[in-house]
Amino acid sequence: MGYRVVVAGATGNVGREMLNILAERQFPVDEIAALASRKSLGTEVSFGDKTIKTQDLDTFDFTGWDIALFAVGSGPTKEYAPKAAAAGCVVIDNSSLYRYDPDVPLIVPECNPQAIHGYSKKNIIANPNCSTAQMVVALKPLHDRAKIKRVVVSTYQSVSGAGKEGMDELWDQTKAVYNPTSEIEHKKFTKQIAFNVIPHIDVFLDDGSTKEEWKMVAETKKIIDPSIKVTATCVRVPVFVGHSEAVNIEFEDFLDEDEARDILRESPGVMVIDKREDGGYVTPVECVGDFATFISRIRQDSTIDNGLNLWCVSDNLRKGAALNAVQIAELLGREVLKKG
Ligand SMILES: NC(=O)c1ccc[n+]([C@@H]2O[C@H](COP(=O)([O-])OP(=O)(O)OC[C@H]3O[C@@H](n4cnc5c(N)ncnc54)[C@H](OP(=O)(O)O)[C@@H]3O)[C@@H](O)[C@H]2O)c1
Repeated sequence: MGYRVVVAGATGNVGREMLNILAERQFPVDEIAALASRKSLGTEVSFGDKTIKTQDLDTFDFTGWDIALFAVGSGPTKEYAPKAAAAGCVVIDNSSLYRYDPDVPLIVPECNPQAIHGYSKKNIIANPNCSTAQMVVALKPLHDRAKIKRVVVSTYQSVSGAGKEGMDELWDQTKAVYNPTSEIEHKKFTKQIAFNVIPHIDVFLDDGSTKEEWKMVAETKKIIDPSIKVTATCVRVPVFVGHSEAVNIEFEDFLDEDEARDILRESPGVMVIDKREDGGYVTPVECVGDFATFISRIRQDSTIDNGLNLWCVSDNLRKGAALNAVQIAELLGREVLKKG
């Protein structure tokens, strides 16, 4: 016996990947429902070698469904996730709406699987922000060995992190650059993204940081350890899929770069590709479609006593969203629901 699973946002970047990953990992699905907005009613989406028709989230009855993977953004989530949860369906949500709610666990299964049992307060589990998810997978095993005091991170985030409209905007602008009669229009991003970088993701906060940067701070604390200090600069770059991060870590205890490399090699969800030669590191185009978080350029930071630098790359639609959500569903199945 398997699960009756709902994917809400099935026509979007993350929802489509959720369907792919459920099929790829052979999640025990008895029945699947793909939901989106009314305008997508009947749109066909792929689930393994099948094609399923999209239903309207607004009129869907969640009664009798076990797990709902939500990827519809905070607005619709606020309206529909409590309805699903009240109907007895456990919601695993990709938006930021519930991430900081003390009654909702925020889970990266490689880091804090024990938090799964907190799901029952609201019948909701939150999935972290894409840039946080890949970073904490790398930080957690290092923290367990040498206790992290402070992290300085700069991100290089792909346009797919801004949804399918973000990908369309990069595509259209790139074509327009080569066509002198076309106007370069921007709607999704605040400035031209083609052949450019934009040091601004999500809204500005009073202290001059952005909400995306704040999310990395707050979520790292909730997932790993509230004592870890994080300062972030989040930047959008003209890459379709795959987020990269340059991470500087200060530890309480000394951690040698070779030991850090060995620890990361043994860590779940991590793939170390770190040769000190031309091309001996991973770039975003190489991580697309992969489950792993790739770590390269591991090296001592000689400007402080106990410091390391590393480069961290992952498919933001997978570990940053859909894969992590499916891993949470697997954890929920294993530890709590116990079907399949
Ligand atoms: N992309 C990432 O890297 C990433 C990472 C982590 C978390 N997330 C989060 O995941 C969520 C989805 O992101 P995305 O990148 O997949 O966005 P997207 O490509 O723009 O897709 C949005 C999906 O939500 C559906 N939707 C929107 N409004 C709806 C409504 N009122 N009722 C029902 N369905 C509605 C859309 O359906 P229609 O096609 O019918 O409009 C579509 O299926 C967001 O909360 C985002 O913050 C994204």
